[in-house]
Amino acid sequence: MFGKPWQGIIHEYAPLLPVSIKTPIVTLYEGNTPLVLALRLQKELGIRARVYLKLEGLNPTGSFKDRGMTLAISKAVEEGVKAVICASTGNTAASAAAYAAKAGLECIVLIPDGKIAKGKLSQTMIHGAKVVQVKGNFDQALDLVREVCELKPIQLVNSVNPYRIEGQKTAAFEIVDALEKAPDYHFIPVGNAGNITAYWKGYKEYQFRKKNILPRMMGFQATGSAPIVRRRVVKNPDTIATAIRIGNPALWGEAEKARDNSDGEIDMVSDREILTAYRLLAQKEGIFCEPASAAAVAGLAKVAKRKRFTEDQIIVCTLTGHGLKDPDTAIGESCDDSITIKPEINELLKVITI
Ligand code: F0G
Repeated sequence: MFGKPWQGIIHEYAPLLPVSIKTPIVTLYEGNTPLVLALRLQKELGIRARVYLKLEGLNPTGSFKDRGMTLAISKAVEEGVKAVICASTGNTAASAAAYAAKAGLECIVLIPDGKIAKGKLSQTMIHGAKVVQVKGNFDQALDLVREVCELKPIQLVNSVNPYRIEGQKTAAFEIVDALEKAPDYHFIPVGNAGNITAYWKGYKEYQFRKKNILPRMMGFQATGSAPIVRRRVVKNPDTIATAIRIGNPALWGEAEKARDNSDGEIDMVSDREILTAYRLLAQKEGIFCEPASAAAVAGLAKVAKRKRFTEDQIIVCTLTGHGLKDPDTAIGESCDDSITIKPEINELLKVITI
């Protein structure tokens, strides 16, 4: 009567994933995230096409990383690995720490010193990972973990690990299942470029299922961290969207292929545009995402200024992480809005203008 219970993306999509009956499945019941029609946002941006938001912040650790991590950690256990490592701007670290805890593996994470949002750091620490702060940026931390994996029996669980991409592609499957076809456009933030690569792979592999269309992949970097757009490595990347503060994406070439083969675009949005979209989502849709996620919607707002979408088109934006990951930005953006009063009714009546 209630259908089969959801047990995570590996159980759901096993035939399309590199697993066998021997794979011990380490799941926190990730995936199956809502695809929400965003009518007020659509109106606000003056878009005629239907706009859907894929709420990846509702995964167990609050970001899309869980889809790739369930597979990467399951395969690590299958292969007899004892320890995993990653470099991270925060979400990969939180996800690796949680899944490693569930699997009983050691987890080491390298994070850029002082540049990770508090929610992510708190998750990583409470799950018991060894947290190493690197006096440098994400790109330097990634170089270090790649090097250490050559020297020690530790498994790398960054998105250069192909199992991460395999797991993350299931988000595209879910979208096609929900819409009964692929969207016309898919907007997504780009950092290390794993997710855009994974979605494109997912859409292509699922093409046989439903109508034979593929979306245009529309990737967005932050202006201060836009190596793909600028076609050169950014030595000192900077943006308020710390999750995508990356100057030399590991899957750069793959992201370009997704863009070119889908007839899509990779462009950039400013921190101001990101924060405008961040507030808009919170205040018009009731959806609290982290700043990096809002880059997808900032990108949609930018494209909508020059392009006419039509009523029959479908647009999906992936909101990659939950807003609670980064409480400091939310409070910093809203502190002028809060009012303090004495505990007296007259004081309260003065500030209520309705
Ligand atoms: N959005 C969020 C919330 C992220 O955490 C990331 C990446 C991205 C978008 C970009 O995805 O790297 O696949 O292009 N976060 C990584 C991390 C780098 O370490 O958590 P990408």
